[in-house]
Amino acid sequence: MNLQHVLEVDQFAPADLDRILSHARRMKTVAENRTGSSLRGRILSTLFFEPSTRTRLSFESAMLRLGGQILSSEMASETSSAVKGETIQDTVRIVESYADAIVIRHPDYGAAAEAAAVSSVPIINGGDGPHEHPTQALLDLFTIQSELGRVDNLTVGLVGDLRYGRAARSLARILSMVPGTRLVMIAPDGIQMEQDILTVLDEVGVPYSLETELGPVIADLDVVYMTRVQKERFPTFASYIEMSGKYQLDTSLMKLLPPSSVVMHPLPRVDEIEHAVDQDPRAAYFRQARNGVYIRMALLDLILNGNGQIHHG
Ligand code: NCD
Repeated sequence: MNLQHVLEVDQFAPADLDRILSHARRMKTVAENRTGSSLRGRILSTLFFEPSTRTRLSFESAMLRLGGQILSSEMASETSSAVKGETIQDTVRIVESYADAIVIRHPDYGAAAEAAAVSSVPIINGGDGPHEHPTQALLDLFTIQSELGRVDNLTVGLVGDLRYGRAARSLARILSMVPGTRLVMIAPDGIQMEQDILTVLDEVGVPYSLETELGPVIADLDVVYMTRVQKERFPTFASYIEMSGKYQLDTSLMKLLPPSSVVMHPLPRVDEIEHAVDQDPRAAYFRQARNGVYIRMALLDLILNGNGQIHHG
């Protein structure tokens, strides 16, 4: 696999996923022992044209934990020359002179790929509109493995805004590469999973069902993946209101979830998970956010020290 750029889940082969996950396990030890130094002298730029807490800060933490440094533009849509009308390509042509790799989050579908087309340094997609969030999918897979001891032969329920939620879209794609995956997609009509992802699932032969209620199916799930309704992507406020508040995972629904199952959420949460659920040992979303640091340490190390290649065998 060429790990020059990280743009979408589709670029990974199953063997690459194993490599990245096992490197992330090593990175967890490096982070815990504070022994990281493999990116000393390197600079990572984070160019964020949309809000972020976890993705930007965990990339920056990952870089710092490996001895590297960061150049951050956290409100690039307001404070970079994008305000003056500069294109993402022109911005990247400048920042590539200042940094060894660039993480981009942008509201436009395909923005990271457009940046990669002109960049001489690796571009990492930190979320491109309602398209993909590949590093989130990797940390989600790492979390499933850490929590359940395996990633294969699981029934995963994706709940909420599956149309605009890039985290759920990327997770569905990455799980389609894992043997024995079954997906249950729970969303209101109008924001169900888009046909492009369903076509991939059909081609690969991943069994899935489309549901509108969580209660009747929750007892079948190994993973419940809750998501936020993506307010900022709806064409009108009224259309957002129509789709919001449909699902809340509360303590009574948790009684129906098997004891060995796990609850995940890419965060931020609005009202999809009752706060009382946080005390439940099956609530993994804060551990999931922490895993973002280990996955991003692994990716940065592989990209910047691996000669752009993950070596097989
Ligand atoms: C998600 C995102 O930005 O796509 N957050 C994240 O990166 N953890 C999910 C969301 O905003 O709802």
